[in-house]
Formats: sequence, C-alpha cells, structure tokens
Amino acid sequence: MTAEVNRPSEAATVEATDDRRPSGSAADPEGIPAAPTEQDRPADPAGLQAAPSEHDRPADPTPDPQGQLEIPQGQLEIDVRSREAHLPGTEKVGIGALGATGRPMPDFPEPQPLASHGPARVIAMCNQKGGVGKTTTTINLGAALAEVGRKVLVVDFDPQGALSVGLGIRVNELDVTIYNLLVERGHDIHEVIQSTATENLDVVPANIDLSAAEVQLVGEVAREQILARVLRPVLDDYDVILIDCQPSLGLLTVNALTAAHGVLIPLECEFFAMRGVALLIETIDKITDRLNPRLQVDGILATMYDSRTLHSREVVRSVVDHFGDKVFHTVISRTVKFPDATLAAEPITTYASTHGAATAYRQLARELIARGGAA
Ligand SMILES: Nc1ncnc2c1ncn2[C@@H]1O[C@H](COP(=O)(O)OP(=O)(O)OP(=O)(O)O)[C@@H](O)[C@H]1O
Ligand SMILES: [Mg+2]
Repeated sequence: MTAEVNRPSEAATVEATDDRRPSGSAADPEGIPAAPTEQDRPADPAGLQAAPSEHDRPADPTPDPQGQLEIPQGQLEIDVRSREAHLPGTEKVGIGALGATGRPMPDFPEPQPLASHGPARVIAMCNQKGGVGKTTTTINLGAALAEVGRKVLVVDFDPQGALSVGLGIRVNELDVTIYNLLVERGHDIHEVIQSTATENLDVVPANIDLSAAEVQLVGEVAREQILARVLRPVLDDYDVILIDCQPSLGLLTVNALTAAHGVLIPLECEFFAMRGVALLIETIDKITDRLNPRLQVDGILATMYDSRTLHSREVVRSVVDHFGDKVFHTVISRTVKFPDATLAAEPITTYASTHGAATAYRQLARELIARGGAA
C-alpha cells in the first residue's frame, strides 16, 4: 500500500467522506474509486467487498485486479483449507482452537503491572463509516486497559459527544472542552480533563461546539498538528491515550492521525464493512508520508459479530483475507449490553462485568499489549 507524495498542505484536504456520502459519487481525486453502488456491485472492481455467499463463492477468489489493496507478503499466513473445514464460529472456543477470525487463538498473557507511568502511546480510533463501534471501543478498551492498571486518557474528538455522554459527562454544562483547547489560546488541558467513575480512566470531553473547529482551524499555521500540541503536556501522565474520531476524514481526523502513534480501525461485520477502507488506508499512508512518519495501523477490529450467521463469518473471513495479521484475533460480538451500558453511562467492564462482551474487551486489551500497541 503506497501513497503518492504530493505537497504537504494537501494532507488536510483529503476528501472528507462517510457512509452517508451519496452512493455513486464521482471517483475521488486521489484515484481511489468510490465504493460501488448497489447497481454496480457485481463488478466489484477494487475487490473491496465482503465475500460472496456460500453459493456463489468461486473456488479461488479473484485477486484484487487493480492492486489497490496490496497486502504485504507474509500477512496472509492463513491455511485456507483448514478454515474451509471449520467455519469460524463453529469450533470450540479457547486457546489453540480456531477463533472467530479463522485462525488459532493465541494465549494473550495477563499484563504485568507497571512500575511507573508514561510516556503515553496515542491511538486514534478511526473509520469514516458511521456506527461501526469507534466510541464503544474507545470507552471499553480504555476501561479494560485501566482495569489492568494502565493510566488511560480518552479524548472525545467528535462533536456528537457520545464518548463523553457514555462516560457520564453532562456535555451541555461544560464551560471548556477540547474545542477551546484547539481554537483558543491560554487554556491548559488540565482544566478540561475530567476523571470518570472508573479508576485510572480520564476523559477530555467534547460537545457540539467542536463542530465549528474544523472551519476555524483551516486558516491556522500547522493546522494538522494542533491536537498533538494540545496533548503534549499530559503525555507523561498516561500510558495510553485513545482518540475517538468522528465519522469523517476531515481536518479533525487528520489532526488525530497526526497526534497518534497508531490507528485502530473498527469494522462492523456487515456486507459493506470494507466500503471506504481503501480510502482510509490511503489517508493513513499520506499522513505517514507527510506529517507523522511514526504512524502505523495497530489493528483492525471486527465488531458486531454474530457467530450464528454465515454472513458475519464471511465478512470476517473477507477482512482477514485482505488484511491478514493486522486483524485482531479478538472480535466483538453484537449484544444489546453495549447500548444498555451507554444508557447507564458506564463501561461494559463494570456494567456487566462477567458478560462475554466485557471479557472480549479485556481480551482486546491483552492482545493490544501483547502486540506492543500499549505498555
Ligand atoms: N458490539 C455491539 N453490539 C451491539 N451494539 C453495538 C455494539 N457496538 C456498538 N453498538 C451500538 O451501536 C451504536 C453505534 O456504536 P458506536 O457509537 O460505538 O459507533 P461509532 O463508530 O462511534 O459511531 P459514529 O460514527 O456515529 O461516531 C451504538 O448505539 C452502540 O451502543
Ligand atoms: Mg462515535
């Protein structure tokens, strides 16, 4: 996956897009075709779609003809035949058994306590598609990391303020938010950080004010680096900082990716999961080239997985086929416990501590630490 090198100033003008963009919009200027519409779906020129159903899947899937999703050698170390024999989700669960992604489930060790805290590793939770589990993952991965003694700061970087609300913050009563830190001088991030009911978990809240920031920052010097500057004073206080991005690839998301060491991409297990992922990867490549050479994709997380449906299993299979080892072994199942926990303004790890959904986010925390994505 390579991105052509253009002028640095163009990085922040990467075409903003989300799943609400009208289908059939013109091919984007960077040469990545728009996601196929319902009408032209069968052609699937970029090979981006979920695998076809059991009935029409060819014996040997057609490789991506335009090479737009080149997967580096060595990432696809999956024994296709063994997966055919044991469809993901049909095997016994446990270490060594095939997990939901169709690969043997490794043992992720219990994280060791940390003797001291910081400097933080900054991770952007990013997918321009809406409703894929970015906010849910930020809250619950954050809480699971906090539970194992990591000091965690979560940053609400979406004017919807769902992360803040989900952690019990009354967003309409806030005098200062991330917005003030971005656009006004003279504020200190310490004035804005709030502790939550979860030990070791703090939040930088946002509310609808943030929607004005994108326009206001356009004329700023080094406009892509403003969030990185805002976070700098607290990097040494935390082990992990998670940034909950809004569903767009606009200037706020570019700021998050510029401030981050890694990006975690939640993908909902549904037919159009891969829509727009090529554009997201292209954006990440450009930011790596022009603004933030340390940025890497920490992992792709399958969310809202339903092991009872062949459809869910096929989507996960397709995602693993495209992204190989970048896909987390941990998958997050679909359960009403998540919206319930949001209503209760609590992480799943305390709202339903023994539920499988809490176990899954604890496992994700262990897997992230085992991969080196967090201390
Ligand atoms: N695994 C899950 N099972 C069931 N519901 C879920 C799951 N994960 C998230 N949800 C619910 O789906 C909705 C969207 O999730 P979430 O807000 O985390 O997505 P998002 O990517 O942050 O959305 P947006 O792009 O709008 O910010 C929420 O109501 C949430 O409670
Ligand atoms: Mg969200």
